[in-house]
Formats: sequence, structure tokens, C-alpha cells
Amino acid sequence: MEMIQVAKPYFTDDDIDFITENTRDVLKSGMLMQGKWVREFEETFAAYCGVRYARAVNSGTSALISALNFFEIEGKEVLVPTNTFLASANAVIFAGGTPVFCDIVPETLLIDFDEIVRRTNEKTAGLVLVHQAGLIPPDLARIRDYCRDNNLFLLEDSAHAAGSSSAEGRAGGLGDASAFSMLATKIITAGGEGGMVTTNSEALAHRATSLRFHGEDHKRGIQDRVGYSWRMTEIQAIAGLTQVRRLDEIVSLRMSVAARYDEGFRDLESANALPLPEGCRNAYYKYPLILGDHLSRPDVKERLEKEFAVKSGTSYWPTCHLQPAYREKYGYAEGDFPKAEHTLNQTIALPMHCHLTEEEVDRVIAAVRAIAG
Ligand SMILES: Cc1ncc(COP(=O)(O)O)c(C=O)c1O
Repeated sequence: MEMIQVAKPYFTDDDIDFITENTRDVLKSGMLMQGKWVREFEETFAAYCGVRYARAVNSGTSALISALNFFEIEGKEVLVPTNTFLASANAVIFAGGTPVFCDIVPETLLIDFDEIVRRTNEKTAGLVLVHQAGLIPPDLARIRDYCRDNNLFLLEDSAHAAGSSSAEGRAGGLGDASAFSMLATKIITAGGEGGMVTTNSEALAHRATSLRFHGEDHKRGIQDRVGYSWRMTEIQAIAGLTQVRRLDEIVSLRMSVAARYDEGFRDLESANALPLPEGCRNAYYKYPLILGDHLSRPDVKERLEKEFAVKSGTSYWPTCHLQPAYREKYGYAEGDFPKAEHTLNQTIALPMHCHLTEEEVDRVIAAVRAIAG
């Protein structure tokens, strides 16, 4: 039985031809960076998200730090859900701030609004809002109003959510800025690595441009601030461009896999899938399934792989606050965020990518039902 993988990028033969031909031209031209392809990728991405500016960088983490640097968070606190990949919080530290974790809503795995309110104080500068697994928070309007009324910046971490949307609009245009990852496993990839900052703020876009090129601001060779080396190459941008042009198709394919899973698990009492609120499109970076308390996540994962040749992931475990680096640095401990700890310890992420066939999805459903049923 062939192993079903959790994630796989989607490049059609046409896209591979396009990338190959144009890569050859780029290599011959000698213009390997900061050229027309990066510009076109940025313009196409900004238009897709419905914002004025997009700036390509080398990773999602750099994209987050670019925005956080602009928000000037030195000595300040930034709220981050404890359910995210650690980079969302690490970026706050790299930009000079302190991440303050928040517990989650068990049904959606997203940040709990009451926690945002509870943990806001005079030091709080803003919020990193993670569209975890691709789902845009159903209470986004309330979160946005709260941030506006309390003078907090709202930075979307859209690493999981390229192409996701809700009644409020598309990921990338829902806050003051947004950061995307284009790592190989993400919804779209710029050839294996990459990131994008999107915003309507000209000043923020300018800051991202400066930071990615060693802090150059107005004049070539003059560094006005201490910057980084975070550029995206032309070859990466060619690959990324094919992906964003195909993003609606990619999201539709992922949504049909999710719909089949939803149907397959609808009557299963021992596991719950996430809701898809009316009018939302979810890019489903992951398909999380919350297992009943009588099941052990590690056992289920092991049996899926060994007995049924199905790989699975988590979404996320351990939570950020239980990662050794954070326990040590900030003294977090078990019991600090009970809802996240309980729910995420029971959550697995099933295979989710555009190449999955209906037979493979059915194989995954049957495997889960055999173990959890
Ligand atoms: C939620 C989230 N934020 C940020 C990142 C960081 O992106 P990158 O690995 O491209 O730096 C990732 C993934 O890696 C992520 O899953």
C-alpha cells in the first residue's frame, strides 16, 4: 500500500513548463534578483488579496518581523494564540517585543476573544491573528473593532490562509498588515521557500523593502537602518507567480477534499471536524480532526501510519507555551492554557493537498473510522 502523504505542492505540467522556460531566460539574462518577476509576483499577489502593496521576502518569519518592526514593539507586549507554529511568537521576540499567549476556542482552534480582552494592558501593542489551519476567525469583525478601539495593531499571520476568505474579505487584507509563508508545505510555494507581506500602508511596504535589503531606504548603498538580507530570487518569484495565478483552483481542490472528509466523518461520534462558517472559503492548510477523550493522539497517529499507510500531523502539538524554549524563557507551564492543552493534545491533522484522489480520501476516512469508530 502506498503511503498517503500529509502535504504536497501543486504544480501543473503547464506551470512547470512556464517555470522552466522562464528560469532559463533569467539565468541567461544574469538578472537573478529584484527584477521584473519579483515585481510581477508582488503585483499579482497584492491584487489577489485586494490590497495596495505586497513585498516578497525569503520566508514567512521575515514577513512577520518586517511588519512587527514597523509597528515598533520594543519593550511592548504582543498577543499571540498559543496554538500556532512558533514562528508567530518568535517574530515578536526578534522585533524586540514580548509575546503574550492567549488560549483558544476548542471548536475552531482559533484565538479566544475573551482572552484577547483579558490579556490586554497598557503595554499591549497589538495582536498577531493566526488563521490557524486556514480558517478565518468567525468573530473577526469583533476582533478588528476591539483592536481599533484599543489602539492595537492587527497583524494577520496568513501563513496557512492564502486564498481563504470570509464575509469580511480575503486573508491578506483583513488587518493592518498580513504575512504569508511560501514554504514547500504551504498552500502556495515560491519554489520551496518564501514569504510575502501585504498591506495598504505605503510606509509599512517601504519598511519591508528597506529591511529586506540591509536597511537601504532612499539611496543605493546607503543604509538608513539596520536591516537584513531577506530577498526573494527571480527564480522563486516565477514559481510563486504560477501558484498565485492558480490559487482559486488550489483552494477549490482543497475544499473538495475537506468536503469529502466532512461527509465521511459527519456521523462519527468519536471525532469532530472544524466548522466552515457560511460564506467562508477555507484554504485548509490542514484538516484538523479533534479526537474524543478516550482516544490517544499518538496511538491514533501511529496506527494510521503503520496499519493503514496514512501519514498525519498535529495542529499544533506541543502548543507554543509548552515548547521548551518558551517554558525556559518565560516560565510557562502545563495548565496555563487548559483549553488549548486539552484540545490540541487530542487533535490530528489528516492528509490535505491537491493531488489526493477520492479513493485516497476514502482510504483515510476508512482508516480513521476503523481506529476511532
Ligand atoms: C502559522 C505560521 N506562521 C509563520 C510561519 C513561518 O513561515 P516560514 O517557515 O516561511 O518562515 C509558519 C510556517 O512555517 C506558520 O505555520
